[in-house]
Amino acid sequence: MNKPNIAILGATGVVGREITKIVDELKIDFNSIKFLSSAKSAGKKLTFQGKEYIVEEAKPESFDGINIVLASAGGSTSQKFAPEIVKRGGVLIDNSSAFRMDKDVPLVIAYVNDEDLKKHKGIIANPNCSTSQLMLVLKPLDEQFKIKRLIVSTYQAVSGAGLAAINELRDDTVANLKGETFENKAFKKPISFNVIPQIDVFTENGYTKEEMKVVNETKKILHLDDSLPISCTAARVPVFNSHSEAVDIEFEKSVTPEKVRKVLENSFGLKVIDNPENYEYPTTRDSSGVDPVFVGRIRKNLAFDNGISLWCVADNLRIGAALNTVRICKKVIEMGLY
Ligand SMILES: NC(=O)c1ccc[n+]([C@@H]2O[C@H](COP(=O)([O-])OP(=O)(O)OC[C@H]3O[C@@H](n4cnc5c(N)ncnc54)[C@H](OP(=O)(O)O)[C@@H]3O)[C@@H](O)[C@H]2O)c1
Repeated sequence: MNKPNIAILGATGVVGREITKIVDELKIDFNSIKFLSSAKSAGKKLTFQGKEYIVEEAKPESFDGINIVLASAGGSTSQKFAPEIVKRGGVLIDNSSAFRMDKDVPLVIAYVNDEDLKKHKGIIANPNCSTSQLMLVLKPLDEQFKIKRLIVSTYQAVSGAGLAAINELRDDTVANLKGETFENKAFKKPISFNVIPQIDVFTENGYTKEEMKVVNETKKILHLDDSLPISCTAARVPVFNSHSEAVDIEFEKSVTPEKVRKVLENSFGLKVIDNPENYEYPTTRDSSGVDPVFVGRIRKNLAFDNGISLWCVADNLRIGAALNTVRICKKVIEMGLY
């Protein structure tokens, strides 16, 4: 098979820049690469692997001859260009939520459900960031002990809401410390020195869309029964990068913290830091800029019969978006699926 021609759509955004870095880190073997954005950033220069590229405005013709598109340019952009990419024989690996729950679109975490990639019809979806980090933790535990019930509470960094949100945390914090007024735009409430119990819009059942993404995407990726009870509360916290999650899991089979620790220590993509008496547990600062999903505070859950509680932290821009996108790209190339 020939090496693929690759396009990065949304290359100037927070996730797109990270994707670009990781394409290099994972040594993706391509024939050609191009970088696409909206008209706003078109013409900007970008250096990749020592070579200068000009960012181009994405148009349908931009995808002529392109085999794989790594997209992080928002749902409406993906919806607009998906038919153009597929029509031209390309494979879209999409970071937006536009196609995630479409039954013809595999929703994939690399090394968790790679086999689902074989079912793609031109579009592959990358899960939501808060779901993504959880899957590498839950998959081996489900295989060993079978999940019966799941409760997740997320503490999500502002980078998950893009560049404007990162700037708003910085500017609001500075204004607050100087005693100046600040008009928040990226968030509905001030984000500095605050915790906001809303990410995305509310749905009819009182949960937010973000919370329902965790519920629905988890079931799709792990092939869990639709009736399996999952509940999520998602909050935005004034942290620049890396999401944290408190996870309570009830299992069908008997389980102990020691057994769980052993399984997780031997699973792909995870790093267990769990020595609370020495203040050793993962924090957002440990996980920013690196690949593993960190797990700690593994303990017996006091509310469930066969229950475990744990704390899980990961770089939302990497495993929650860019790293998984590029890992999927690597799998697609290795499996000859383009
Ligand atoms: N941040 C995360 O943790 C995260 C995690 C998972 C998924 N995602 C998803 O990834 C996507 C991008 O997120 P982000 O945080 O990187 O946002 P961002 O920093 O705002 O970047 C958006 C990118 O999309 C481009 N773009 C916007 N409209 C476009 C259009 N009409 N045509 C072509 N390109 C267009 C922008 O180009 P310009 O520079 O020209 O504006 C920019 O490159 C979103 O769908 C988001 O939901 C983000």
